[in-house]
Amino acid sequence: MCGIAGYVGKDIVLPILIGALERLEYRGYDSAGVALIEDKKLIVEKRKGKIRELVKSLWGRNYGAKIGIGHTRWATHGKPTNENAHPHTDEKREFAVVHNGIIENYLELKEELLKEGVKFRSDTDTEVIAHLIARNYKGDLLEAVLDTVKKLKGAFAFAVITVHEPNRVVGVKNGSPLIVGIGEGENFLASDIPAILPYTKRIIVLDDGEIADITPQSVNVYNFNGEPISKDVMITPWDLVSAEKGGFKHFMLKEIYEQPKAVNDTIKGFLSTEDTIPFKLKDFRRVVIIACGTSYHAGLVGKYWIESFTGVPTEVVYASEFKYADIPISDKDLVIGISQSGETIDTKFALQFAKEKGAFTVGLVNVVGSAIDRESDFALYTHAGPEIGVAATKTFTAQLTVLYALAVRESGDRDNLIRLLEKVPSLMEITLNSSEEVEKVSDKYLKRKNFLYLGRYLNYPIALEGALKLKEISYIHAEGYPAGEMKHGPIALIDENMPTVLVAPQDRVYEKMLSNLEEILARKGTVVSVGLKGDKVLKEKSADFMEIPKVDEPITPFITVVPLQLFAYFIASKLGLDVDQPRNLAKTVTVE
Ligand code: G6P
Repeated sequence: MCGIAGYVGKDIVLPILIGALERLEYRGYDSAGVALIEDKKLIVEKRKGKIRELVKSLWGRNYGAKIGIGHTRWATHGKPTNENAHPHTDEKREFAVVHNGIIENYLELKEELLKEGVKFRSDTDTEVIAHLIARNYKGDLLEAVLDTVKKLKGAFAFAVITVHEPNRVVGVKNGSPLIVGIGEGENFLASDIPAILPYTKRIIVLDDGEIADITPQSVNVYNFNGEPISKDVMITPWDLVSAEKGGFKHFMLKEIYEQPKAVNDTIKGFLSTEDTIPFKLKDFRRVVIIACGTSYHAGLVGKYWIESFTGVPTEVVYASEFKYADIPISDKDLVIGISQSGETIDTKFALQFAKEKGAFTVGLVNVVGSAIDRESDFALYTHAGPEIGVAATKTFTAQLTVLYALAVRESGDRDNLIRLLEKVPSLMEITLNSSEEVEKVSDKYLKRKNFLYLGRYLNYPIALEGALKLKEISYIHAEGYPAGEMKHGPIALIDENMPTVLVAPQDRVYEKMLSNLEEILARKGTVVSVGLKGDKVLKEKSADFMEIPKVDEPITPFITVVPLQLFAYFIASKLGLDVDQPRNLAKTVTVE
């Protein structure tokens, strides 16, 4: 949801900014731009389209500037056009701003500025910031920013530079993420850690209501009253290799293949800190899980595990629905917010709301230092490393890992169930080794327009997740359904044109899944099934069979999801689509 980057230091800034934006591109990719200061002049270049369009427009230009800001956009206010692309400037082009988030009162501010005769060049909410800072400037950029932020409402982060102080970048965080990277004779601002990994691992995570004032030699942080704040420097465990493609055609494929490691690292991380978990699920009258997208699907699987291993009633609610649904919440509830990024605003707001109601809040995040990590009463971590592909894969199975480990911790059979979990990475490896089979199957379905995905019990959420993967990256309509509900509606859709993907390991609902299979065949439907190795019935009756190794019931979701991720990947990739950056989506959604 927009990526911002800033640099001031000893090196030529343009390649640094372009590299940072490329690593932030997963946050938004409908336009991109940079602003540099050279010889006390502002150079602004911005283009509709992906970062490569910006790079093309900059081709052959050798700027020596050592200070600049950059942006990659996911449009909210104003269509993706060159004019609406960031950076935005004041009328005299002395100040440039890049922004992530929404200025909710921008219309009001814009009207005031229009009355004063200010001419706007774009339809964005961002442009008001540039004009306001220019008007408030009396020789000190920090002071001008302090005067400006008092007027802004909404959740946002922005960075600003001015020709008047060509050695200084000021960044503001209030609701959207912003970090400072500390280098030697150079300092950085960015929306996320991967942006600056080639240069430094030393990070300051800004909190809401904070302003970072950076020069090549200094980093100072202030609150919105201008009072200095002392901040801890964190060393990120992520490395550059994990944020690059490493020979894979797409990040998504690399991340699918990284799942055995992500699960393994997450098991180790969980077990080594298990004793510090300050609560028991059983101490609460119920557990409420809130999340969005793929994280929501992980929550649905978690519900089955928590209820089955602890007996504590568990609800899973879309974060975007939670706050508005009058769900009774009190200090008797444990509320778990699941979010890969730790920044999804719906999940963040829902957790804040639960906290206000007295619930004990737990964040389950992949990004240490993210908003949900810091704002929850307690945080649990997935150790999946940075996930760049917009469609979540390895963070999903890492989330499952934590939810499973958390649930079995309170069961009478904890040790055996953990041993079962420890088998997951090698079972995933075996499944990944048959990716060629999945690829062959995918070849046959490239032209289909609609898919139905069915699963039951633990694999119902996997059917939802498989369908989500397909629609996200291939733009093929796919609907996930609990298999038992097929007869109450979706069965009407079944004919020779609509394939059904059946997730049917040999678990407690296997026989029921076979009945669904017969019902589909009786209506001339085509079945693509995911089943256990050696399942002759499923193999014979399905048009195509995607095999997974024999796996015990409780851990089936970890393995059944893998062929479905691959299936979606191969279809989208063979259709020539932009797998890592599908249209209209953003990896981290920081607007409500
Ligand atoms: C976006 C992404 C999804 C993701 C969802 C929740 O919609 O495109 O892949 O599942 O946000 O993100 P989170 O970071 O909160 O897990």
